[in-house]
Amino acid sequence: MNVVVTGGAGFIGSHTVDALIARGDRVVVLDDFRTGKRANLAQHAGTDRLTIVECDVSHGIFAALAGLSIDRIVHLAAQVSVVSSVANPLVDMSVNYGGTLHVLEYAKAMGVKKVVFASSAAVYGDVPPALIPVHEDAPRAPLSPYGIDKYASELALDYYAAVHGVPTTWFRFFNVYGERQDPSSPYSGVISIFADRARRGAPLTIFGDGSQTRDFVYVGDVVRAVLAGLADGNSRVVANVGTGAEITVRGLAELIVSLCGGTSEIAHAAARSGEIAKSCAAVDRLRDAFGVVAQMPLADGLRRTLAI
Ligand SMILES: NC(=O)c1ccc[n+]([C@@H]2O[C@H](COP(=O)([O-])OP(=O)(O)OC[C@H]3O[C@@H](n4cnc5c(N)ncnc54)[C@H](O)[C@@H]3O)[C@@H](O)[C@H]2O)c1
Repeated sequence: MNVVVTGGAGFIGSHTVDALIARGDRVVVLDDFRTGKRANLAQHAGTDRLTIVECDVSHGIFAALAGLSIDRIVHLAAQVSVVSSVANPLVDMSVNYGGTLHVLEYAKAMGVKKVVFASSAAVYGDVPPALIPVHEDAPRAPLSPYGIDKYASELALDYYAAVHGVPTTWFRFFNVYGERQDPSSPYSGVISIFADRARRGAPLTIFGDGSQTRDFVYVGDVVRAVLAGLADGNSRVVANVGTGAEITVRGLAELIVSLCGGTSEIAHAAARSGEIAKSCAAVDRLRDAFGVVAQMPLADGLRRTLAI
């Protein structure tokens, strides 16, 4: 296959590129490097199966892909910060919704055989405990411009499939973790922040009492879902990508401290307003439609992430 990976220099994107190249595909990465890094793709230096094009997807992708023959697209490029989306909703709309429309316009014009899109558990908002684990058909009630633009993108993927015949599949990623997640980024996930502090013996700060839960899914399991989504079939299908198991943030902090040798203190700060209480994916559709079940136990995935 000839596959475009937008956001391919990022955390999930670079792991996706690794898997595509390992199975023999040709890959074109489109990335503007706002959070992604060329170093994430350095392992492929010298291969003729990877082409990297610097491109802002919110300005369109036709010129970047001129002259190339493209079968399928994995669309991961995004403004990934919920906090930034609240501060700059128009930028979020332009990159996250506008970028998706540009990808779909290209796919429609060029007869692309499948577009796979990275949506987010953020489309569900604060799910009532009775609906946990949350199923794909649960109400969408996003609480941020980031969640709104991910949901708008989902609607656009459905529309382009139904009306323009562009095959589309989209996944709602839960909390993804693994190697290459950037702990120095203010937008980084809680695992990379906790792990970075625990490795240095610095205190870990939990906002609130730590009883909030999350579903942490290892990046390798996410990539298996993306690859399954790229196959023919399953157009206009959405699936959660999580493990189906939830852990409290307090439990996560304790696990990371113990894996790192147990010297960091765990401190609490005032709860952040608007923080989601419980998050856990129903994963039966991922299994039944795509044949994918998350395999990596959290402690093992953390050891890999922490390289211990
Ligand atoms: N990491 C998670 O837990 C998680 C959860 C839910 C959804 N997602 C989604 O998965 C995707 C990948 O996220 P990630 O965690 O790898 O983040 P990341 O920041 O590592 O990757 C995003 C990539 O997109 C690139 N990018 C951003 N704006 C761009 C633009 N306008 N044009 C071209 N490239 C652009 C960045 O440079 C980066 O390489 C995103 O769509 C994100 O919203 C991630």
